[in-house]
Amino acid sequence: MAELTSKPFMADAFPELKKLRRLPETCDKHPTEHLVAMPGQQPFCQLCAIEAKQAADLDFQRQFFERKKHRLTYEVLDRDSIFDDDDDRQRDFTNYEAKDGSEAAKNKQLARHIAGKYLHADYKANTILTGNAGTGKTHLAVSMLRAVNDHINPSVSCLFVSVTSMMELIKDVFGYRAGDYKYTAEYFTRLLGDANLLVIDDLGSESTYRAAAAEATDFVQKTLFGILNRRHGRTIITTNLTMSEMKRIYNTKILSRMLRGVRAEGNVIKFTDATEDKRGDLF
Ligand SMILES: Nc1ncnc2c1ncn2[C@@H]1O[C@H](COP(=O)(O)OP(=O)(O)OP(=O)(O)O)[C@@H](O)[C@H]1O
Ligand SMILES: [Mg+2]
Repeated sequence: MAELTSKPFMADAFPELKKLRRLPETCDKHPTEHLVAMPGQQPFCQLCAIEAKQAADLDFQRQFFERKKHRLTYEVLDRDSIFDDDDDRQRDFTNYEAKDGSEAAKNKQLARHIAGKYLHADYKANTILTGNAGTGKTHLAVSMLRAVNDHINPSVSCLFVSVTSMMELIKDVFGYRAGDYKYTAEYFTRLLGDANLLVIDDLGSESTYRAAAAEATDFVQKTLFGILNRRHGRTIITTNLTMSEMKRIYNTKILSRMLRGVRAEGNVIKFTDATEDKRGDLF
């Protein structure tokens, strides 16, 4: 058994290596490579050991990139979403109750069906949830988003943004030095524009700004257009507005981007007076 001292500096740096002995047996996988062993330990092939180390390094890198991807996709919903009411974060299909045969039950079924379509990352159409206040539009929209976030493979970024909160945050810039404020229109245009599946919650509520200042109308329209123009469908919109109100409030370029694929795909979830305001239950 010859001593492995072909690289004396290695043996100096790692004195233990001097004890490594080369055995007459060769490796099954690398027939020209002799096995080696430390006294009293299992023989091994050095090439196999190097390959195993390289595979472990690759695995480590893969896990690193997977964790990074996870942060950029799966975690977006809980990290970057903007809710009016923090309780809305907890909504999902399991806590959406509906009596058999009711409008709510049919809408829940339809919402599940549409969420299933969004599990295909190349499915582009938008969805509109429309109807009176408190009927469960936001609840169902969050449920769809959570279902997709939890089940789509590979994972994608799913985001929920309340229009009112977004506009409030953009407005709140006053008092900050230029460059110091995070929630600019550009920030939201990028965030919402680039999310794979987006819920725009309570569209129309921001139109109260129109009464306050004429420029705000232009600003709201410009911001919405910037976001929608950057998206290629996959936008779920909740609103109290009827279609004719939407037509009145938004210009045709915005409207056509909001309604992309909605009718053709049957992606309208409509609550009528048949569903009561669930907030009324609280009083
Ligand atoms: N079918 C349901 N099962 C359980 N909770 C419900 C249901 N529908 C609505 N809720 C609850 O009632 C409240 C109001 O619902 P939600 O916020 O979804 O209404 P909305 O249609 O979005 O109203 P708005 O138009 O005012 O935004 C929420 O707390 C929601 O979780
Ligand atoms: Mg709502």
